[in-house]
Parts: sequence; structure tokens; C-alpha cells
Amino acid sequence: MFNIAIMGFGVVGSGVWEVIKENSKDISKKLGGNGESLVDVKYILDLRTFEGHELADRVTTDINAIINDKSVSVVVETMGGSHPAYEFSKAALESGKSVVTSNKECVAKYGKELSECAVRNGVSYLYEASVGGGIPIINAMLNALTANKIVKVAGILNGTTNYILTQMKECGTDFESALKEAQRLGYAEANPAADVEGLDALRKICILGGIAFDQIIPTEMATPVKGITEITLEDTAFAEKMGYAIKLLGVAEKCGDRIKLLVAPHFVSNSSLIAATSDVFNAISVTGNVLGESIFYGAGAGSLPTASAVVADVIEAIRCKPLPMLREYAEEGFVLSEDEIPTKLFVRSKKAIEGFENVVINGEYGTILPEALYGEQKKLIEKADVISTYFVL
Ligand code: HSE
Repeated sequence: MFNIAIMGFGVVGSGVWEVIKENSKDISKKLGGNGESLVDVKYILDLRTFEGHELADRVTTDINAIINDKSVSVVVETMGGSHPAYEFSKAALESGKSVVTSNKECVAKYGKELSECAVRNGVSYLYEASVGGGIPIINAMLNALTANKIVKVAGILNGTTNYILTQMKECGTDFESALKEAQRLGYAEANPAADVEGLDALRKICILGGIAFDQIIPTEMATPVKGITEITLEDTAFAEKMGYAIKLLGVAEKCGDRIKLLVAPHFVSNSSLIAATSDVFNAISVTGNVLGESIFYGAGAGSLPTASAVVADVIEAIRCKPLPMLREYAEEGFVLSEDEIPTKLFVRSKKAIEGFENVVINGEYGTILPEALYGEQKKLIEKADVISTYFVL
């Protein structure tokens, strides 16, 4: 029997138990058993008591009970936030237990340190569920795509905002109601500002960019970082008329020896799979120098999809194949500043921008400028009475 502990029994943590129960026989076979139950949840660390729940007798508020129990080999960290998730994960690793996490904030901030701590202690620190919910994007990038030099990773990395944008576009739901529904469905962060202001997508693109370019990229290096709060119905009208959807994207792309790394709402051509990605789904495009582009699509948030990735990592940890994050921190200047970003740009303005085709709605002009440095684009549109701009994928 392999005993695990779950730290944080919320949307994802409780989903982990559901998945272990539901797929117990298959999990057993994957661990070399004959269908008998091989993974048991010995502890749940949470401040709540979960009275009446079948695991209520396993609930504790004492991290030391878990750390000091030698029969626990894997700790699942689904608490969210940096603290005390970081301290508890570190203590678990130092006591010789593997840690499996869905916590992108902790991975983006402390992933290198925790991963190195795991290697020192001969255990694993696994974080597949931290990006893309149930989509196995991290495994794909670390393993299946390893023959490639990755040149670009871009996509929809936040289910909540994609759900909100879809509800607003397709059902005419207002922002607040769509957000409430996303919270009710368990998609949103404890503080949904992290979703709507782009911070959640930022943490995820830093994790993926780090793998792609073999550097640890602190979130502070990214620029710009924008969420969905400034998207207006007028912008959406232009996007629709011109054959685009507005999507919040995280982008990490090689530009010579440096990279661009940003989170922002983009105009995405309706012909692209990313534009067709609706509701809570995520779609992540990875371009490798030998493979070309491939797109990973699936449920980007929610209890069971995210737990699917967590439990896969639990099985991986039990099988003992450590995946160390031994890359170094990126040097200052590795990420392009905003003005240095090469991009196509959608501009909504009160005056026409001379020399470019435009679309007119209610006396306003919508123009797509061809690729140039963002700093140069800004100079070009200075006198056009600009209302809004969007990068174009
Ligand atoms: N709040 C996150 C999202 C949860 O909506 O994508 C999954 O990381």
C-alpha cells in the first residue's frame, strides 16, 4: 500500500480522492498490482473538518503528523498560494517524501528551489497540474518534444477568463455574472483578480517558457501583463467584423538570443484552433524547430480534470522517476522590453491611420498594422486618437 497525504482539500484536493476511488483498479495495475487498492489517502491537511465526509477521520491541522509519518511516501499539495504551501512542501521533501502539486504560484516562485531540494533528498517534485489543468503539457514539453528546440509557446492558459469571454460573447452574460458562475464551477482562483488580471496566466507562461528556453524566468521579467478587464463590447464588435476572436494569451517566443514573454488579450484569427477554444478549455500551441506547430487542447481547470494530472504525477512519483528542474535563472535583459516586441497590432482609433486598410464601425476605425516593433507601432499611431490596441496572434 502506498500512503499519500493531501494538503488542501478544496476543488482539486477533493477531486484527487474522487479520481483515486474511481480508478482504483486501473491505478493498481499501473503500479504493478492486480486491481487491489494500492493508493490510500492517510491524511488530509485542512483547517476545515469535513464532518460526514468518508475521509473525515483522516483530517488534521498538524503538518508534523504528516512529515513524521514514515509510511507516507507522496504528499499532494493542492493548497494554492505561496505560503505555507512552500514551507510545507519543503518540509515534506526534506523528510524524504515526493511532492506533487497543482500550485502554479508556488512552482513559478519556488519551483527551482523545491525541485533541487527533491533531487538532494532522492525524491520527486512534480507539477504537471500547475499548467493547463488536465492537459499533459509539461510532460509533453519535458519528454515527448525533447528532440526539438522550442521556438514558441502560446495559448489560452486560464480557464476562468476564457469561460468569462465565451459567456459574454455567446450568451451576452455580463462580466460579473460570468465570473460568479466560474467561481461556482470551481474554476476561479481564491482571489479571482489573479485570473482576470492575468497573473494566473503569467505564472503558467513563465513555467512553460522556462521549460521551452531552459531558464528559470521570474514573473517580474514578463512585459506587458494585462488581463481581460479592459476589453469592451466595441473592441469585440471590431474583432467579429474583421474575422477575429479576442483571447487572453500567454506568449513566450524566441527572438534571436532573447525572448518575448507576455500575457495580454490578443486578436486571434477565427481560422485558428485557439480562436475556436471556448468555455473553460485551454489550448496551447508549441512550435518546435523540427516538429513545427502542435496544439494541446483540453479542460484547463476544474476538479476532476486537474486531479487527473495530479494523480498521474502521484503514480509517477511512486514509480520513482524524478524530473529535476535544474535550469538556471535567466539573466537580466533576457526578456524583451515592451517596445522591443515584434508584433502585428490591432488599433481602434477615432482617426484613420494613413496608408492602411481599415474597417469602420460607428465612426471609429479598426486597423491591423503589419508586424513591426511595438515601440515603432506606438509612434506610428500617436496622432490617430487611439481608443484601444491589441496584439494579433
Ligand atoms: N483559476 C485557474 C484557471 C485554475 O481558471 O485556469 C486552473 O489553474
